[in-house]
Amino acid sequence: MGVFITFEGGEGSGKSTQARALKRKLEARGCRVVLEHEPGGTQLGRSVGRWVKWGGKTGPVPELLLFGAARAQLVTEVVKPALKEGKIVILDRFADSTTAYQGYGRGLDLGQIQIVNYLATQGMRPDMVVLLDVDVRSGLSRKDATKRDRFEQEALEFHRRVRDGYRRLAADEPERWLVIDGSLPKGEVSKLVWDGVEPLLESRGLL
Ligand code: TMP
Repeated sequence: MGVFITFEGGEGSGKSTQARALKRKLEARGCRVVLEHEPGGTQLGRSVGRWVKWGGKTGPVPELLLFGAARAQLVTEVVKPALKEGKIVILDRFADSTTAYQGYGRGLDLGQIQIVNYLATQGMRPDMVVLLDVDVRSGLSRKDATKRDRFEQEALEFHRRVRDGYRRLAADEPERWLVIDGSLPKGEVSKLVWDGVEPLLESRGLL
């Protein structure tokens, strides 16, 4: 069985950059790595991604179910097979994004979110969640203001609820979550990610 690591964070937190950097570093050490971004990684995931970010108006419940559908496909098609082959699976966003955005951000019932997440993930949970925590204003300012998707266009209050949601999730399970200040220079963040990931992979015999 491989190891499952996810990156989470608000807009402009730098998680995609860090997820790619971790993949490169692991591959340089000879590890077999699969990196995907949610919503994406499958044909369905890419279509859902386009729809939820750039498509017509969607209510909170359809949005929740769309993310769930995309995730269920990704888990079946990519995550489970790769872990079974002993690979390291890195996902840039996973079920905790749904809890943070659709739960804390949109205000949907957290119990219902849990049910959808459980169904979509088939009960799979990351071994480690790396949360890149940044001030919402500075995170959003890293994004190109001329082409903001539907989430990036949300009010600051929405993004503050998302950030607060992530911090609560991390505080509930400190042994599984690694919280890093995403405003630090990229190199420092990469080092902190590595310091957290290395012991986990060593303990599983993957490094
Ligand atoms: P990004 O990660 O490429 O910025 O875009 C994904 C957007 O979709 C981001 O704004 C967060 C949002 N999102 C949710 O609202 N719920 C989810 O479950 C996922 C995976 C993403």
